[in-house]
Amino acid sequence: EKARYSIHRLKLKDVHGVPLLEPIAQSWESISAFCPDPSDLLIATYPKAGTTWTQEIVDLLLHDGDAEACKRAPTIVRNPFLEIVAPPPVPSGLELLSRMTPPRVIKTHLPIQLVPGGFWKNKCKVIYTARNAKDNLVSYYHFDRMNLSHPDPGPWDGYVRKFMKGELAWGSWYDHVKGYWRAKEERNILYLFYEDMKENPRREVERIMRYLGLSVPRGVLEKIVRLTSFEVMKDNPMANYTFIPNIVFDSSVSPFMRKGAVGDWTTHFSPEQTELFDEDYARQMGSTSIPFRSSI
Ligand code: A3P
Repeated sequence: EKARYSIHRLKLKDVHGVPLLEPIAQSWESISAFCPDPSDLLIATYPKAGTTWTQEIVDLLLHDGDAEACKRAPTIVRNPFLEIVAPPPVPSGLELLSRMTPPRVIKTHLPIQLVPGGFWKNKCKVIYTARNAKDNLVSYYHFDRMNLSHPDPGPWDGYVRKFMKGELAWGSWYDHVKGYWRAKEERNILYLFYEDMKENPRREVERIMRYLGLSVPRGVLEKIVRLTSFEVMKDNPMANYTFIPNIVFDSSVSPFMRKGAVGDWTTHFSPEQTELFDEDYARQMGSTSIPFRSSI
């Protein structure tokens, strides 16, 4: 009961202008002081943009497409989630990292200005995956319904407004995608799009392979594409988050591997909501030209 209470519907707390889950805000000093090894790889995303998918592709590339090797542990253990703080005995991201030897693959949802400076100082490779705003929002909405450690999403209409105002955990989607976009050349960030991965997974897996300085045979590439399809990952217990107990991720509300599609926003947004959202989007994204696609 006690453990359950301590993770239930956490509050958000401001960290340098970004709302983060309260336990993360409370551990902020040690999180921002984390110093990676130059060989570590960072996978950064706004929540629900395709993090787990990117992680699985990377792990398979690093293991030559060996499916069994990539089932050695659940995603969160294979690739520690840098800033996550869970109630004991569940290890925090920093604890997991301290037990692993580099090169490590590290996950973060931090906006670029909050990423610990050591990643830039040590010139770590960074892969950023972005997803179009409306699908990202829909996915986050269902995730916030089922992830009982996150604040309650409330009704759909209010959630759309919260997203537009950047009032969800990890803050503004708009600032997040723009921040990494602006820095991508100078910091050698590989900037990927969920929609591109969906449209032509082979091309995107190959792009990741080249960025990592790897070269895998064509057959292995095909195998990785197969193993990282939504259908296969949905049934992979080491990649589908079913290892998180139901008191935290209530999969009866919505499964973690929900739809895995581009354009699901059309089944959620009313015409009025679309109009309001698109107008605001133009305002918030006006100065940038990130090639997002909300359909393929
Ligand atoms: P939906 O809720 O739209 O289904 P993250 O890993 O960043 O939390 O993102 C989760 C979203 O990515 C979910 O979106 C999930 O279904 C989708 N996803 C996970 N693996 C996928 C895959 N192999 N192909 C397509 N989408 C995938």
